[in-house]
Amino acid sequence: SDSYSLLILPGDGIGPEVMEQVTRVIDWFQANRGMSFDISTDLVGGAAYDAHGTPLTDATMAKAQEVDAVLLGAVGGPKYDVLDFSVKPERGLLRLRKEMDLFANLRPAQCFDALADFSSLKREVVAGLDILIVRELTSGVYFGEPRGIHADDNNPENEGGRVGINTQRYTSGEIRRAARSAFELARKRSNKVCSMEKANVMESGILWREEVQWVHDNEYPDVELTHMYADNGAMQLVRNPKQFDVIVTDNLFGDLLSDAAAMLTGSLGMLPSASLGAPMENGRPKAMYEPVHGSAPDIAGQGKANPIACILSFAMALRYSFDEGEAAAELERAVEQVLADGVRTADLMGPEGGVPVSTSGMGDAVLAALSAGR
Ligand code: NAD
Ligand code: IPM
Ligand code: MN
Repeated sequence: SDSYSLLILPGDGIGPEVMEQVTRVIDWFQANRGMSFDISTDLVGGAAYDAHGTPLTDATMAKAQEVDAVLLGAVGGPKYDVLDFSVKPERGLLRLRKEMDLFANLRPAQCFDALADFSSLKREVVAGLDILIVRELTSGVYFGEPRGIHADDNNPENEGGRVGINTQRYTSGEIRRAARSAFELARKRSNKVCSMEKANVMESGILWREEVQWVHDNEYPDVELTHMYADNGAMQLVRNPKQFDVIVTDNLFGDLLSDAAAMLTGSLGMLPSASLGAPMENGRPKAMYEPVHGSAPDIAGQGKANPIACILSFAMALRYSFDEGEAAAELERAVEQVLADGVRTADLMGPEGGVPVSTSGMGDAVLAALSAGR
């Protein structure tokens, strides 16, 4: 079959540790499923800053624009927190998202049956959970102008004399394209979308609600659409998450809500994501795949990280970038099997304890399950 081009950006902290397990999985698919990946590996985040003085070089950015898909581990860490804002590791990730125009960030939260007791919520609240958060990823308060930290001149009453500014800004077009992604995905699931904003206090929220409704009424009247204030949405996510199917929301609310949704599944180390843009010439979307979690400095370098979020992110790449839905399902089944067999990294240890496997131990188990073909 064709060769798929992949740019792998392991990044910082546990990023390289979990990505190492993904490369083993990729090798398995090459050896056993006749797939061929043309892989290049490069630096991003703090690692790129250490080598080049920037969290993302122009050459790496250009490479990302060319490939079929980018796989990213994680960026950031305490060592880099003192850097100037413009060269912080996180800026590298945000530049990739912005310049590739990856406006739809798909963050599925699925509770595997074997982990239903590991969630911080009761088993019956999370068992069987399967929701999808569609987070707008290229606009909103992350990118709006004006922004910055300034001297607050002519305001003698401001103790400290400074002001920090970010701007929540959305155009109708940005909202509509995110909404379309959510409705399209909902049609392949339970046909239900809940849109979250704060239209009660923000004009951008009013626009968000109106435009999502417009897309619904004009293009997806068959999909059930509800609206919810995002604060209530946060509460409902932990009260009764199974009421949701697809949630569509802005960049910042989506960041918060997806971390909250992570704990429904047992661990942040379980949540994959796909960041998709407009279709390329080959019809597949421009895409980057990354776990929802960060570089986890508290456990980095100890072989403790759970590689499943990153492995499942590669499964999403198989599905959305390479049209290998069958292989994606095969990999997801292998992960499910390993969890059912009781294989646990430290983050998945319940109150009863047990002996956790290492990052590579989890990789071994997933490869063994793939080979066993269960
Ligand atoms: P984090 O996601 O790195 O960690 C939060 C907690 O979850 C930590 O206790 C960590 O040990 C645990 N955890 C995360 N992933 C895990 C895994 N795979 N296995 C086991 N445990 C896991 O969030 P943070 O501590 O707030 O941020 C650390 C750094 O990562 C910061 O610099 C932040 O900006 C960055 N960050 C990067 C990304 C990204 O690259 N996409 C995402 C979030 C945070
Ligand atoms: C995420 C992260 C990023 C975000 C940071 C690291 C820029 O938290 O991917 O969820 O805020 O989007
Ligand atoms: Mn986040």
